[in-house]
Amino acid sequence: MTGYYFLSLTLLATCCSFVLCDFYKNVPLTKSRPFSDEQIKNQLDHVHLTYKNIPVITPETFHRLSPVKKLEVEFCNVKSIDEDSFRALENLQKLSLKHNLLTEIPNGTFSATNIEELDLSDNQIEKIESGAFGYMPNLRSIKLKNNKIQMYHNSWFELAPNLCFLNLENNLMTALPTRILGSRQAWTCNVDVIFSHNSLEEIDEEAFLNYKLNKLYLDHNKIRVLPKNVFSNAVQISHLKLNNNRLDCTLPEMSTVEKYDVNDNSCLFDLQGEKLETSTPEASTTERVLRYYHQYQHQRDFLPPPFHPSMGRNRYNSFLRIG
Ligand SMILES: *[C@@H]1O[C@H](CO)[C@@H](O)[C@H](O)[C@H]1NC(C)=O
Repeated sequence: MTGYYFLSLTLLATCCSFVLCDFYKNVPLTKSRPFSDEQIKNQLDHVHLTYKNIPVITPETFHRLSPVKKLEVEFCNVKSIDEDSFRALENLQKLSLKHNLLTEIPNGTFSATNIEELDLSDNQIEKIESGAFGYMPNLRSIKLKNNKIQMYHNSWFELAPNLCFLNLENNLMTALPTRILGSRQAWTCNVDVIFSHNSLEEIDEEAFLNYKLNKLYLDHNKIRVLPKNVFSNAVQISHLKLNNNRLDCTLPEMSTVEKYDVNDNSCLFDLQGEKLETSTPEASTTERVLRYYHQYQHQRDFLPPPFHPSMGRNRYNSFLRIG
């Protein structure tokens, strides 16, 4: 392995004079050696650039790095990326641009690449155009956390049928549209979808229509009401987080959800203020739980509350930790 990195380093030093890659896996820079094209092709597979000033990435910036498989450009003041800047990097599987100053991802930025893992976390991204990702047949994982994204486009991943991991944690989104992953048919995996710590209020009833999800994290948002079939429209949701929202005392259909967490919602705050109101004779699931809690709160180790069958196979114990 060391030999490979050594080789890569030397190649970088000789062929990419546009940026001096003095940080490279802590291997010291050495003078050039003769290499065959075949060796270049096989060896230059990982480039890690940090603390360089690269405000604009253009197709020329990395055009000599066509063999690279993993490219990390971090803390490099990248503010913008021109269209098709990565398209010539046919072997690129992992691209990290985290900790830069990106504010916008225009159409065509990553389209028609073979990238499998893309990390755009910790930028200042406010807007991602609908065609920013486009055709990404191999994309498995995308991280967009810690940005300022306000609007979710449901065409982003329409042409990324192998996406299994999507993290949009800590952004400024207020709504989720219908079919957030596009109209995918084949499922190579159950997808993890992380929307924790946004400002979500509205979720389309068909946001997850016919999807198989592993994690669906909607915690730490501003959700008050959820459409009745928003979760039951999915084929399966293994692990749902709804904690730290503003949910009132009704939950939607939960038949497709295996386990979930609804801790810290408005309904529970009302309860602590002794303001519990039940309206209909058919109390909602949450109401049943709260009534039960009221009834038994004087006991130290009360039994699990009576759950409605629609609450899924494994419920969280978060209800029991109130107060
Ligand atoms: C980006 O692409 C979409 C179609 O994918 C198009 O509707 C939109 O107008 C494009 N935006 C710009 C600024 O060209």
